[in-house]
Amino acid sequence: MDQIRIRGGRRLEGRLVISGAKNAALALMPAALLTDEPLTLRNLPRLADIDTCGHLLNQLGVSTHVQGARPDEFGRVMTLRAGRVSSTTAPYDIVRRMRASILVLGPLLAREGVATVSQPGGCAIGNRPIDLHLKGLEALGAEIELEAGYVRARANGGLRGARITFPTVSVGATENVLMAAVLAKGASVIENAAREPEIVDLCRCLVAMGARISGIGTERLEVEGVSRLHGATYRVMPDRIETGSYACAAAITGGDVVLEGAERETMGATIAVLEEAGVSFTDVDGGLRVTRADGLRGVTVQTAPYPGFPTDMQAQLMALMCVADGASLLTETIFENRYMHVPELARMGADITVKGRSAMVRGVPRLAAAPVMATDLRASMSLVIAGLAAEGETVVRRVYHLDRGYERLEEKLAGIGAEIVRVADEGP
Ligand code: EPZ
Repeated sequence: MDQIRIRGGRRLEGRLVISGAKNAALALMPAALLTDEPLTLRNLPRLADIDTCGHLLNQLGVSTHVQGARPDEFGRVMTLRAGRVSSTTAPYDIVRRMRASILVLGPLLAREGVATVSQPGGCAIGNRPIDLHLKGLEALGAEIELEAGYVRARANGGLRGARITFPTVSVGATENVLMAAVLAKGASVIENAAREPEIVDLCRCLVAMGARISGIGTERLEVEGVSRLHGATYRVMPDRIETGSYACAAAITGGDVVLEGAERETMGATIAVLEEAGVSFTDVDGGLRVTRADGLRGVTVQTAPYPGFPTDMQAQLMALMCVADGASLLTETIFENRYMHVPELARMGADITVKGRSAMVRGVPRLAAAPVMATDLRASMSLVIAGLAAEGETVVRRVYHLDRGYERLEEKLAGIGAEIVRVADEGP
């Protein structure tokens, strides 16, 4: 296990390249199962989760060939080919490492009519049920049993189009059902579908592969099932959460940073909230420039499905608000346990009170460096952001959490002036 050491107080300045979106790539890669032709994904980020997803697909018989980055792109190019599916089982030892493995369920059912996928189980931020995934696939005609921690699904005679109305918005369930519906017999309607940009990315890729989807970007997706899909080449969208995270990093240091490749139109409420907090965003050629003219102001925000303020940005915003003038009230409505960064921020001198799903953050003049522990992906980034502004050297341990979602983080931050190093951690 490694640790990251950050000496705070340096103003971040310069240019930083935004990588391809982890949460788009983790849905696009399983889509390769839907055809026996090659699917080439460009701008793929180098992340632990992407490697885990590739390893799982290899176990199912999908070949994955990675080429180096194109000269004009940061990300890798990966060609995936499911010429023949040699296994329809996603084993526990892989799924437990990455919950998004559940996204092979829909494509396997659509392609092979059978799938055995380990139930992902919960994670640090919540118990993460998959009932909406399963109900949606059953509506398409799948027979599903839960046995010994596995989902055993079968679609004898193939899947049939259906109308599916989700009671609550679920990104993963929308993705699983969508990837099953594109090869189902007949038409499907998915109502109360998630509208996250990553869903739009998946829809666009599936259409490039020959799928027939309308209502893309809305909460009502209409799918006309087709008998087969063909290969395609598709560029993964830039990571909007990485963009928001580095915007918070730039802002907490009063810096001036250009986020290359950032796309304002996929940022939803993130930009509006950060602007309310005193951060400025300016469109520049090929990206977004982030500056902060005056002090930071406290905000009142609750997380919500897209285009609301993303739950994946809550911890990072909290770190920024720790040093704002005045108080902030943040309410986490999506996951039940997404405040594990709070006690760690408190060790750095933050003044935060959690009551139920809300956290009251009272701004303090400065944070103080401290040894802190990463607990989950976005909480880890929250501690890095705080460390960039804290007086002294902050040591963030268990940074493997960061490696799941932030490509070459130390390199990117050092490139804009942060005093940051990664060292091996002998500790437990
Ligand atoms: C995706 O997770 C993202 N992960 C998460 O990002 C993100 O936080 C989340 O969407 C919300 O935006 C990937 O895309 C790989 P959900 P997902 O299904 O699909 C409940 C990160 O940091 N629910 O939209 O698992 C669930 O408990 C990660 O990058 C059910 O009740 O999220 C939650 O309360 C963390 N039953 C809510 O819905 C279900 O069957 C939203 O979850 C499914 C979900």
